[in-house]
Amino acid sequence: MCGIVGYIGQNDTKEVLLNGLEKLEYRGYDSAGIAIENEQGVNLFKVKGRIAALREKVDHNVSSTMGIGHTRWATHGAPNVDNAHPHQSASGRFTIVHNGVIENYVEIRKEYLSDVTLKSDTDTEIVVQLIEKMHDELQDTAKAFRKAVSLLTGSYALAMIDAEDNETIYVAKNKSPLLVGIGEGFNVVASDAMATLRETDTYKEIRDKEIVIVRRDSVEIQLLDGTKVERETFKTEIDAADTEKGTYDHFMLKETDEQPFVIRKIIQHYQNEAEEIKMDPAIRNAMLDADRIYIVAAGTSYNAGLVGKQFIENLAKIPVEVHIASEFSYNMPLLSEKPLFIFLSQSGETADSRAVLVQVKELGHPALTITNVPGSTLSREADFTLPLYAGPEIAVASTKAYTAQMAVMLLLAVDTANGKEIKLDFNPLQELAIVANAMEVLTDQKETFETLAQNYLSESRNAFFIGRGVDYFVCVEGSLKLKEISYIQAEGFAGGELKHGTIALIEEGTPVIALATQSSVNHSIRGNVQEVNARGANTLLISMKGLEHDEDAFVIPAVNELLSPLVSVVPLQLLAYYAAVQRGADVDKPRNLAKSVTVE
Ligand code: G6P
Repeated sequence: MCGIVGYIGQNDTKEVLLNGLEKLEYRGYDSAGIAIENEQGVNLFKVKGRIAALREKVDHNVSSTMGIGHTRWATHGAPNVDNAHPHQSASGRFTIVHNGVIENYVEIRKEYLSDVTLKSDTDTEIVVQLIEKMHDELQDTAKAFRKAVSLLTGSYALAMIDAEDNETIYVAKNKSPLLVGIGEGFNVVASDAMATLRETDTYKEIRDKEIVIVRRDSVEIQLLDGTKVERETFKTEIDAADTEKGTYDHFMLKETDEQPFVIRKIIQHYQNEAEEIKMDPAIRNAMLDADRIYIVAAGTSYNAGLVGKQFIENLAKIPVEVHIASEFSYNMPLLSEKPLFIFLSQSGETADSRAVLVQVKELGHPALTITNVPGSTLSREADFTLPLYAGPEIAVASTKAYTAQMAVMLLLAVDTANGKEIKLDFNPLQELAIVANAMEVLTDQKETFETLAQNYLSESRNAFFIGRGVDYFVCVEGSLKLKEISYIQAEGFAGGELKHGTIALIEEGTPVIALATQSSVNHSIRGNVQEVNARGANTLLISMKGLEHDEDAFVIPAVNELLSPLVSVVPLQLLAYYAAVQRGADVDKPRNLAKSVTVE
């Protein structure tokens, strides 16, 4: 959601913070700020808007070798300069950045801060004011920080500096991600290693309810009671080049293009020397033990889950339910006797999914996380993890993580079927190799999708996507892609359901994108296309080789029908991309959205 970066070392901190924030901007981008400290005290620079604006605002004559920075996605209070982080205590001595939501901020305000005039509408300011109050009492910054943090409930990643001590950054974490990066003569703090890859590839994980005292040459992890904790370092596997756009105009296009390579990487990681599926036997056993599987996810991951259900039910013959994470906690279905939960999440940090995982663990049920970020919260807290190997996904609109999730779920389904000795008539690794080639054929035809987007979508107010069977699920994802980045109102419908209401919205020229990749419903989806055409729709029909008719607008290469979502989504991603570009939208950072939603 928001992003944090901090640096304490020998070099000028401004560039480290600004570069780091640029890398984190994909997580939140309505306001930003940095606080840099030197012998004269703390200098604060904040703007509404993007890091580029912050770069202009910062006084580049101020030199400093320590500081903290933040890019924000507003939760409490409007996106403006007052609410932008860092926030300062009443005297200006303490300065803080925060990701997450402090749940008891109203109570804290009442109990400890009734005499303090607040400068912002944020829950974060409460934390820094509380630290100052505690300091008034305890006269020791570390103790005041620990005491204040111990009073907080909710989620937080915090980094704080003290104007009277230019040797220390105080850090704390609960539920929101935060890492400390280790260097020679310097150390960094980041909510995502991506922010500080230029500085270091060596990190220490910080666990919930831990405090860290970060100095130029030391990093000390403590529990809230002050007990020291030893923690090994780890090397991040993220390649700095993966976080650059290279020659692409947008990350979304780069990530769409990377899909064939991601699928090949998945094949490579999940196959043994005999070219059979290689999967942790404990995961297979957990699948075999389950009488029902509950997939829990949000957004695009939820849409991938809908396809995953088809894979698992068709191949492994285990019933599957797919649930929206934010609904599950309050609206829990009647669970089966031996459920297995699968958490699907690109980031592994989505707060709604994590809330369900906490609940599920309390109930004592097993959980598997399928994520692009091993080591993320959902990965650490589940019993098992299956990585996606998709590489960092920076564009808010998820593309390669979606197809990677489906590919990994396919392999999981087949591995389970093998465990049950169910005979399958296809080799999934070979089928995925065919999928990768088909994706490449599509990403090589970008101009075609650019023209189709211009002809069908770029001038339109709304659009409908229709399909049957797995095509319907891809339509839901295709419509999400289009609406989130182009702001065209778009909905995905089951072809047969359209005439039970929604067809009333079809007017002369309304764009309808139809998918026809399933032989069992090829005839009926074409019937639905006739129905909308008769009402004036401007229909773009995308079919699969072998099922095509002369009038189809585009034909995708033939792949196994069950796996068609991995391929048929690519045209929809590219149509959404070009429609957004043609409408002048900010493709990688759509309004109101954040890449990783770490608040419930
Ligand atoms: C946000 C993003 C979506 C994403 C969803 C779930 O809303 O904007 O692109 O699909 O979160 O994220 P996850 O990381 O759990 O897959």
